[in-house]
This record gives sequence, structure tokens and C-alpha cells, in this order.
Amino acid sequence: MDLIQHIRQRAIGTNKRIVLPEAEEERTLRAADDIIGENIASLILIGDEKVIVENAHHWDLKNISKATIIDPINNPRKQYFAEKLYEIRKEKGLSMEQALKLVEDPLYLAVLLIKTGEADGEVAGANNATGDVLRPAFQIVKTQPGMSAVSGAFIMVLKNESFGQNGILVFADCAVNPDPTAKELAEIAVASAQTARSIAGIEPRVAMLSFSTKGSAKHAKVNRVVEATALAKLLDPGLLIDGELQADAAIIEAIGRKKAPGSTVAGTANVLVFPSLESGNIAYKLVQRMADAQAIGPVLQGLAAPINDLSRGCSVDDIVNLVAITVNQANGF
Ligand code: ACO
Repeated sequence: MDLIQHIRQRAIGTNKRIVLPEAEEERTLRAADDIIGENIASLILIGDEKVIVENAHHWDLKNISKATIIDPINNPRKQYFAEKLYEIRKEKGLSMEQALKLVEDPLYLAVLLIKTGEADGEVAGANNATGDVLRPAFQIVKTQPGMSAVSGAFIMVLKNESFGQNGILVFADCAVNPDPTAKELAEIAVASAQTARSIAGIEPRVAMLSFSTKGSAKHAKVNRVVEATALAKLLDPGLLIDGELQADAAIIEAIGRKKAPGSTVAGTANVLVFPSLESGNIAYKLVQRMADAQAIGPVLQGLAAPINDLSRGCSVDDIVNLVAITVNQANGF
């Protein structure tokens, strides 16, 4: 069974409540029908109930009647959610009037449902930009204790099984932090190791990537990766991690032995932590296209609740897969 099938299987029957705030959108509604049909999650759909019901009828999606539908505009509990939001954000200058308007936004309402314990997770982004999906999550559910930076990892499944662990690697951060500090890079390393264990099912061996290996180049950007490696060791003393390493030293055994002799990670890394969002985002897209690899994610890590962001080019299957990943996160796998 391939990794994504395994992830789907683990979600089945666990009855986690996942909210889909873009339910009027065709791919999302079709995915919702599959998710309910395969018993991957219980769904809360946000959108105009009339539109959702008509669309479901039009596309012959018989399972949609089993979902809970919440209309953000004609919502009898608008005042309740606005008060919750106001309480959370008043110190940041949010007025009650603004809160009443924001709870009509499906992306804010979805996160409030998680905050009030009515949902276990959220998947959105088929119709909205990453920043718009992430902002309410950052503002309302915030980060896990001990984490200050949320980041996004991709699980890369390569055809060439000589890389990583049988062709599986975790790349991060590919989605959120344009220019992480050493502390943020350290958190990204620890969170990515956790994603490797829980979602990718591999025992993490973390490489902190740079354009330098063990002092071969001198630059402030190299120093930041060295500092991040030391901080990550403090955060998780049992973690197998090394840096700074160049990408070839991280993943090719002969080069790892030559450039970083004695390293326990060099040459056999399966979690690659990139020094910036530019490098992480570019790398995952190049590997995906040029090596014809499967890129599962981005899996958001470090948030206090499982919330995941889709690419706007996503397929129905991508949505089903990300909901299954979100269910796995909610189950604490
Ligand atoms: N982790 C946790 N919290 C964060 C983070 C983070 N990485 N970044 C911002 N926040 C919090 C802030 O502390 C702030 O909280 P507060 O209001 O309670 O004080 C809140 O989020 C808003 O902060 P801003 O600085 O105003 O953040 P902004 O909204 O400008 O930007 C965003 C955040 C949208 C995520 C930004 O970092 C961004 O655009 N990143 C790039 C996203 C992107 O385009 N990725 C590439 C595409 S994805 C892909 O290809 C897979």
C-alpha cells in the first residue's frame, strides 16, 4: 500500500470533525462527497445552504446530506462567534463591529469552530490564497506550546528509492516563513521531525541545509544555520540532526562521508530543513517536476490545531488526501 493510501486508511472510522469553508466550490463539494462516502471524516461545510444543496443535487453527490452545513451570512449564532472573536482579538484593537463582520468570512468562522471545540480541524485553500487561510489560524488558534513559528512541510515520495528512507523525504519550510530566524529554523527542524514520524512514518534524520558544509564557506547565513542546529538539539536532545550541510552532503552517502566525516546524518538524511522559504519552495517544486515525485502537503506544523492549506490548483483527490492528513494530525498520529 502506498503512503497516501496508508494515511487514508488510518483516518477511516475515526470520526474526526473537519470543517471545509469553501463548500460552494465544485472540487471541494465533490471531495466532501468522497470523504463522507469513504468514512474518512465527519464534515462541517460552510457556505450558502441553498447553493450547496442545489450543487450536490446537480452533481449527483448523494453523501452531502450527511454533512452539517453552516451558512456564515444567515447564521443564528453570529453574535456568539463574534463575541468569542472579540474576546480573542480585542487587545489587538478589534472592535465588536469588526468581529460581527469577520464571522461572516468562512475562513474566520471555520477557525472559530475549532477554537470553540465544535470541529477538530480545517482544510481550505482551493479558492483562497495561503496568507488568507493562515492569518485567521495564526490569530485565533495560534501556535502549539513551545512553538513560535508555524511552517509547512512536504512529504516527497520519490521513484528513486535510494534517497531518504525508501524514497521518502520531508522538506520544510516550503510554505510559510520567508526569512526564518535561527530560533524559527530550529523549531521548523523539530516540527518536521515530528511530521516525519507521525505522517510520513519514517524515523527522522534531519539535515540543516546551507550552501556550506561544516565551515566550507563563511557567511552570516551559514552562521544562522549552525546556530539553528545547536538550538534544535537543545529543543529535542534525542533528535538525529546535523548541519550545516550542503544538499549533496546530506543525501549522497559517499559525499556525506567526504565532506562531513563522522556525521551521523550526512549522506542518509530524510528530513531536509531549508534555510529560507525561497529555497524550500523552489526545491520541492523542482524535485516534484524534474524527478516526477509525489509532493504530499503542505502539512502545516506548529499550529495548536490541525489546519491545512491547499494549492489553488488542487484536484478533488488532493483535497481528500489533505483531509485524511488533517484527521491523522487530529488523532495525534
Ligand atoms: N507562525 C505563527 N504565527 C505567525 C507566523 C508564523 N510563521 N507569521 C505570522 N504570524 C502571526 C503574527 O504573530 C500575528 O499574530 P498577532 O496578530 O496575534 O500578533 C499574525 O500572524 C499576523 O501577522 P502578520 O505579521 O501581520 O502576518 P501577515 O498576515 O503579514 O503574514 C503570512 C503572515 C501570510 C503567513 C506571511 O508570512 C506569508 O504570506 N507567507 C508566505 C506564504 C506564501 O505565500 N507561501 C508560498 C505559497 S504556499 C506553496 O507554494 C505551498
